[in-house]
Amino acid sequence: MANPSTAPIASPGLPESRALEGLPEWDAFKQAAARATIDGSSLRVINAAGLYLDISGQNTSDALTRAGEELLKARHFEQMRDTLLSGGVANATEERAAWHTALRTPAPIEEVAAERKRLNDFVRMADSERRWRNIVHIGIGGSDWGVRLAVSAFGYAGAWRNVHFVANIDGHAIQGGLSGLDPHDTLIVLASKSFTTAETMQNGQRALEWLQAAGVEDPYQQVVAITARPDVAIAWGVPESHVFKLWDWVGGRFSLWSAVSLTTALAVSADVVAGMQAGAAAMDAHFTEAPIEANAPVQMALAGIVNRSVLGYGSLNIAPYDFRLSNLVPYIQQLEMESLGKSVDLAGDPVTVPTGPAVWGMSGTDAQHTFFQWLHQGSDGAPVDFIICQQADHGWPEHHKSLLANCLAQREALHKGKTYEDALQECLDAGIEPKKASWLARHRVHAGGRPSHLIVLPRLSPYMLGALIAMYEHKVFVQGLVWGINPFDQWGVEYGKVLAKGIVGELSDTNKIAPDHDASTAHWVKKFGDTLKG
Ligand code: F6P
Repeated sequence: MANPSTAPIASPGLPESRALEGLPEWDAFKQAAARATIDGSSLRVINAAGLYLDISGQNTSDALTRAGEELLKARHFEQMRDTLLSGGVANATEERAAWHTALRTPAPIEEVAAERKRLNDFVRMADSERRWRNIVHIGIGGSDWGVRLAVSAFGYAGAWRNVHFVANIDGHAIQGGLSGLDPHDTLIVLASKSFTTAETMQNGQRALEWLQAAGVEDPYQQVVAITARPDVAIAWGVPESHVFKLWDWVGGRFSLWSAVSLTTALAVSADVVAGMQAGAAAMDAHFTEAPIEANAPVQMALAGIVNRSVLGYGSLNIAPYDFRLSNLVPYIQQLEMESLGKSVDLAGDPVTVPTGPAVWGMSGTDAQHTFFQWLHQGSDGAPVDFIICQQADHGWPEHHKSLLANCLAQREALHKGKTYEDALQECLDAGIEPKKASWLARHRVHAGGRPSHLIVLPRLSPYMLGALIAMYEHKVFVQGLVWGINPFDQWGVEYGKVLAKGIVGELSDTNKIAPDHDASTAHWVKKFGDTLKG
């Protein structure tokens, strides 16, 4: 571990100020970024753990690359990377490690290895006895998206088991999640690091009652829990042998490498989980060993900081050109926005530059017919991460040819743009009379210069998906470090939960509506409460 007196975060005292503005390395980085351009003539591709990150579509220059290295030095990048990867205190406000890499290393620590074995033994038993045709995975956020992503990526063509996901507190979700299933052949998977999340606990209770109502002999034998609070799960009634451990040094949104992926293993095989862990471990090795200029997560992070904190783009668009990766968008939304949606730095001072962008997106080519108009001609625009697999796993090469073509074409259009002259010529070539053409052409101009990454996976294998996700995880860590914020806590999610708890009570008894609500909230609590009273 690094020496505490110099390590900016590991010291037991409170972290020092992390302001970027005023840091000479930041000023140099900003200036270089402002002068950098998207150089269409040069190809810049990084091979990382078998996937290709093409950064040619980002504003780059040698001066910016050098300034990026100096900025990372000023942020103690190598020391902090060691802290993260060795299980040091990388999460200052919760005084914890953020050691998700320990869950995927080929040589895990004893307790991780033991839990991994327990999980694989459980899955092997269930498979060999052909038990539980149906899985109802109940979990939300980080206890949900990673599993949905893996199951939709590798189970889209059907698997022996049906998997239903229930996350939302809306009763229609659990109603839909249980409907049509045979209670006697259904396993309920309760995934919750805290084992206190209202949605998961209430939905879990409904599922248990559904088993009981169907006369299932010992319903708890059809429930498993994955949690960092095994004591609470056991007290809830889950048999100890059905409780799989998670650790508090693993963040929820970094937890798919853990037993949270039990449902993935039951739905699409334990090999898929192992493959994803192996791909992620390979990306960890790349992140550790690759020099800055050829380090994919680092280069993605720096490009994102240029786009957000220098060029002022408010959002990042994720465009997976693969039907099987539609859940990648919400997965990355939580990973990035719950990590980087912070406006105070580690010392608690207001940040001095814009931090985490809004992340949004949809799989291509659907997205083209939904919001690409905005990406091409909107007043703001947004950087785009195009993600594509070189090889498809279906038997229709023409479909894949079109998918590849559309992905590359949309990206080129964003970079290259279309000038007024080109648009005018187009109109004239189409036989439009000159006066109308000169007017119409102005509506058909594309600004161009809109940055993007192209991420190419040779094929959508568990290994490649694991590597891809780990690349984004490390990118988030590096951006947190440069922005001087803590990417591993999420204090902001608690306030709304506390307010909701109070309002639940008031909806049950509208005589107890708190006096400090704003007029609108008080009005609707009363209205809704009366409706619920019936
Ligand atoms: O409310 C946000 C959050 O705490 C996420 O960070 C987390 O992934 C999710 O809720 C679910 O939490 P748990 O796994 O503890 O149920």
